[in-house]
Amino acid sequence: MFARLRGKTKDDEGGNGSTPTDDTLLIDLKDVSKAYETPTGPFFALKDINLQVDKGEFVAVIGKSGSGKTTLVNMITGIDRPTLGQVIVGGTPIHELSEGQVAPWRGVNVGLVFQFFQLLPSLTNVENVMLPMDFCNTFKNNKERQARALHLLDQVDIKEHAFKKPSEISGGQQQRVAIARSLSNDPPIIVADEPTGNLDSVTAQAIFELFERLVDQGKTIFMVTHDKDLARRVTRTIILSDGEIIDEYLETAFPKLDNGRLAEARKLADLQSFAPGETILAEGEPPQKCYVVSEGAVEILLREPNGQQISVARIKPGQYFEKIDLLRGGAKIATVIADPGYDEIELLALDKETFRKMTDSAA
Ligand SMILES: Nc1ncnc2c1ncn2[C@@H]1O[C@H](COP(=O)(O)OP(=O)(O)O)[C@@H](O)[C@H]1O
Ligand SMILES: [Mg+2]
Repeated sequence: MFARLRGKTKDDEGGNGSTPTDDTLLIDLKDVSKAYETPTGPFFALKDINLQVDKGEFVAVIGKSGSGKTTLVNMITGIDRPTLGQVIVGGTPIHELSEGQVAPWRGVNVGLVFQFFQLLPSLTNVENVMLPMDFCNTFKNNKERQARALHLLDQVDIKEHAFKKPSEISGGQQQRVAIARSLSNDPPIIVADEPTGNLDSVTAQAIFELFERLVDQGKTIFMVTHDKDLARRVTRTIILSDGEIIDEYLETAFPKLDNGRLAEARKLADLQSFAPGETILAEGEPPQKCYVVSEGAVEILLREPNGQQISVARIKPGQYFEKIDLLRGGAKIATVIADPGYDEIELLALDKETFRKMTDSAA
């Protein structure tokens, strides 16, 4: 369905640097690096990030503490700016917006959810939900704003606590209020930084289901989480390590590679898309590359002595194939086709020499 990973491909390196028109592309980070100034010199919390998120995706970002997750999120929300590179969200180059422009832009384009809820304690819950509408002057008047806020609280199953203060409800309930607040200006994107990090697992599950519901309603969600079980249920997982993105399929395929090598492999990999049923490698043609499936599946077909082709294996995301796997009872090489049962089939192609060098040094 969605492009799970769009690595940098040759096609991206067009001459004029303009973005190809793409109705589904919502978040586009190009060569983003972020350095923090420290007493010992600049520290790069993000290193050359290239990341594209389509409308309707539910993206989970995982990675150790200090790997750059919050810094990445702050690039997308415009809370912070890249040192190098471009951040284009919904067609707007937000790295070019002034301080004065970015806050109103964020107010209507991005809903924010934090680990510690960040509700204003002196306001009632419904007033907290109305705040972004007041701030951005959206919706006609106070009455309309309150009606909308109550409706949103109802959507997240917390309407009965609307006129209480945040301190009078539980953490899970406060997070529901915060999610209602994030929706108040109906932004296309919800960005959540460890939204379940301060909740017990049952409550975390309920909050996660709320996000799933929002995705079903058409929102795009970018969520940092520590919870690998939750991360498994989203449409796409991004792994950060020392400020670099590691591809989940490469990690699954090559568990012995360390994170630095995985990041390197991702940069070197060439993303190739195939139509359902399309031939990837023809019989007798030796593959020069090592391929990792990142979307859909591929089928390996062998020719029977009577000439009929039979399917002998299906290779799924996170698995790889190369020439060696395709030899069977002799030197005959099978045909590899894009599985006709999927809409979109994508492979990460790695040069075998490079790949061999990397895996050898990881052994
Ligand atoms: N304002 C800052 N100044 C200097 N270093 C920072 C600053 N903010 C974050 N860092 C450093 O950048 C790295 C990434 O931080 P962060 O994005 O908060 O990671 P995460 O959210 O994954 O825990 C960490 O090593 C952190 O110490
Ligand atoms: Mg963080």
